[in-house]
Amino acid sequence: MSLVLIYSVIGLLVILWIGKRWQDRKAIGLAKHFASNKWQILLGFGPLLGPKVMLKTFIEIAHNNGKNMMLYMGPYIFLLTSDPAVIKDVTASKQCIDKPAPVYDGFSNALSRGLITLQGDHWSRDRKIMNPAFKVKNILTFIPIFNRKANALIECIDEDIESGRKTLLLHFLREMTLNISSETIIGRQFDETEHDIKLYSQRCTLAMEYICELSTNFIYLNGFVRDIAKKTIFKESSEMIDILHSVIVEVSKLKHVHILRN
Ligand SMILES: *[C@@H]1O[C@H](CO)[C@@H](O)[C@H](O)[C@H]1NC(C)=O
Repeated sequence: MSLVLIYSVIGLLVILWIGKRWQDRKAIGLAKHFASNKWQILLGFGPLLGPKVMLKTFIEIAHNNGKNMMLYMGPYIFLLTSDPAVIKDVTASKQCIDKPAPVYDGFSNALSRGLITLQGDHWSRDRKIMNPAFKVKNILTFIPIFNRKANALIECIDEDIESGRKTLLLHFLREMTLNISSETIIGRQFDETEHDIKLYSQRCTLAMEYICELSTNFIYLNGFVRDIAKKTIFKESSEMIDILHSVIVEVSKLKHVHILRN
């Protein structure tokens, strides 16, 4: 009896394996042309990498295997590339607008619907609305802002040295990034009486860690686990994302009115 059970389990695994190979056949075909780990390609499974080691591991892999490599992370197959020609083809191709669910489901869960997570036509339409913001003519108008913020940064550092506080440089750089973002995106500095920039920049870091955790740690694809995490370990981070959301909504309404007026 138990032998029947063992054979059934083996049979089921073989069927699943064949199905998986069929599903991944195009990517597996690419593995013939690029570097890959033969065992991973055969099994259809690879190690899951946490957010803390992911970048480091990718860099090592690229170093050891060249610019292009097929690899499995868990049951998902990826092309890891550092080849500018391939990156250009992918980012400029109309065939590559849809984003892979395993990665972007995490982004959607952290950020909800938005330009980063939209797919297909929705993405193309919303992306076009943003085109004017990336025109060189418009970016040039930011130069005086960058200059002012660079001077403010030096002042902050000077003051810190004079008062002997020895703050980590990274903290000032985060603050400067936030200051530049607010003035270039919102068009004004955050009101200091209402918003604590130091606190915000700390919380933005937490929010980034939260987004990174949700999009790389597969346990957060489970809604129940995610809800508990949002209410406990990620409480501050998800609140910060809500604040940023409301700022962006406010700005987009203003800009929309501006566009309508013109
Ligand atoms: C960021 O802006 C705030 C408010 O204007 C200012 O107090 C702070 O010094 C700025 N920080 C940096 C590093 O430029």
